[in-house]
Amino acid sequence: MFDSVRVSASQNPEVLVVGVFQPEKGSPALDAQTKSRDVGGMIAGAVKRAECTGAAGTIAEAFIKKGKSAQRILVVGLGKKASIERGDNIAGAVGRRLASIKAKSAEVDFRGPLKEAKVDSETFGGAFGEGMGLIAFNVDEYRGAATTKTDRVKLAINSPDKSFAKRMKRGLALAESINFARMCANTPPNIATPEWMATQAKTMARGDETVSVRIIKGEALKKEKMIGHVIVGQASENPPCLIRIAYTPAGAAGKKKPAVFVGKTVTYDTGGLSLKPPAGMRGMKSDKDGGCAVLGAMHAIAKVIKPKQPVVGLLVAAENSVSDDAYRPDDVMTFRNGVTVEVTNTDAEGRLVLADGLCWAKDKEKPAFIVDIATLTGGVITALGSTFAGMWCDDDALRGRVEASAARCDERVWRLPLHQEYRDLMKSPIADIVNSSATRKAHPIQGAAFLSYFVDDSMPWCHLDIAGVHRVESDTGPFAKDTPTGFGVRLLAGLFE
Ligand code: BES
Ligand code: MN
Ligand code: ZN
Repeated sequence: MFDSVRVSASQNPEVLVVGVFQPEKGSPALDAQTKSRDVGGMIAGAVKRAECTGAAGTIAEAFIKKGKSAQRILVVGLGKKASIERGDNIAGAVGRRLASIKAKSAEVDFRGPLKEAKVDSETFGGAFGEGMGLIAFNVDEYRGAATTKTDRVKLAINSPDKSFAKRMKRGLALAESINFARMCANTPPNIATPEWMATQAKTMARGDETVSVRIIKGEALKKEKMIGHVIVGQASENPPCLIRIAYTPAGAAGKKKPAVFVGKTVTYDTGGLSLKPPAGMRGMKSDKDGGCAVLGAMHAIAKVIKPKQPVVGLLVAAENSVSDDAYRPDDVMTFRNGVTVEVTNTDAEGRLVLADGLCWAKDKEKPAFIVDIATLTGGVITALGSTFAGMWCDDDALRGRVEASAARCDERVWRLPLHQEYRDLMKSPIADIVNSSATRKAHPIQGAAFLSYFVDDSMPWCHLDIAGVHRVESDTGPFAKDTPTGFGVRLLAGLFE
């Protein structure tokens, strides 16, 4: 919506943004700090109007005369004092209004309410910055001659609250990483091929000495026994690749074991010969969103968070297409770790490329832990809707870390079980395992159970199924309808906070 948002003081900001809480009953009241910003009782008057309820994200306007012009005030509802809304969601409401009035400068003063609610202005300011940055995401990239595009203005935003302003700046930087992931996720499959994803990774790494990118493709994939990539990608004109992004903090090379992220990067999922019906195929450009999240997280790690621990991101990239070269149901393949897989459904392709990534992580990276993230199953949408991502993690320490990060950034995860009985569901009559069981039972868990054959018990491992949460269908917090959320960028990068 904005061309850019930056933190910068402006002499005479066009808009002042203040906040009020929603009272248990009656109309909201201005705190003393906010009241001190009022001129001629205009803010107080707006707060008394019926439309000003203090409900989270609602906005009432006031105008204060300033010389010959007037300054616009947005009185934004922050929700109940005891359960103040998150800063990124408030920023969504504020940002949308600022964009619609084409504001070029704004001051945000939540000092009074934050103090009243005893909320740390750093945490709130950081999230507010993220939300303002996320609102700026360009939704018009693919509009053409038949659309009248609205101008995207540059917004300068500031706060008299120093710690709020400082963290808001960091939040905006983090939003750039998330928007990078969202831009990749949004790119149509005729452009965003596995090779295009590799180019995005290389572009990100350019000029950054802490990041290096390596692409494994063609014969090298076969030599490395990355059989999932080979079979899933073989029907497409856009060949598969493994994109390895390594973040190595200065002085840390070889000292600490890396964290490893593996992201499903299926640039288009037709289902293969187990072809999807039209309604199920639509939207499958988004089957790369796990990989996009890893890419965005690596961006955030290298540019914003800069942890002491090395981190490796593996994007397992392929297009699941149809041709006479396509792999088929009944094919049996030996994977890198010697496990044989009978393909029963070519639409259960994500787990095949992820299996390669997990084997690679274990053999080549000597990881401290592995987190994989994937739009793996429609079943997880049935189970958890768009409210939680599915999480499988039997390592208490890693799970605690993932849950702590999820709580900070509100990218919610809900634990689902792994159990030998689920692993048994995956047994094949001819090979070791099938990629999809003939039963209709526990589909999202089948995915996790399949993947468990490619990690060792001793390795802390977490699997995230984001099929329900990687996009929004309606305006949600700082996300415009029908856009990718970049789910996973904050969650993964936040593991190092
Ligand atoms: N990419 C899909 C999962 C998916 C479905 C993501 C809907 C987002 C929205 C995955 O490759 C797939 O096709 N899964 C199948 C698995 C089945 C064939 C075992 C599914 O969930 O139906
Ligand atoms: Mn599929
Ligand atoms: Zn898929």
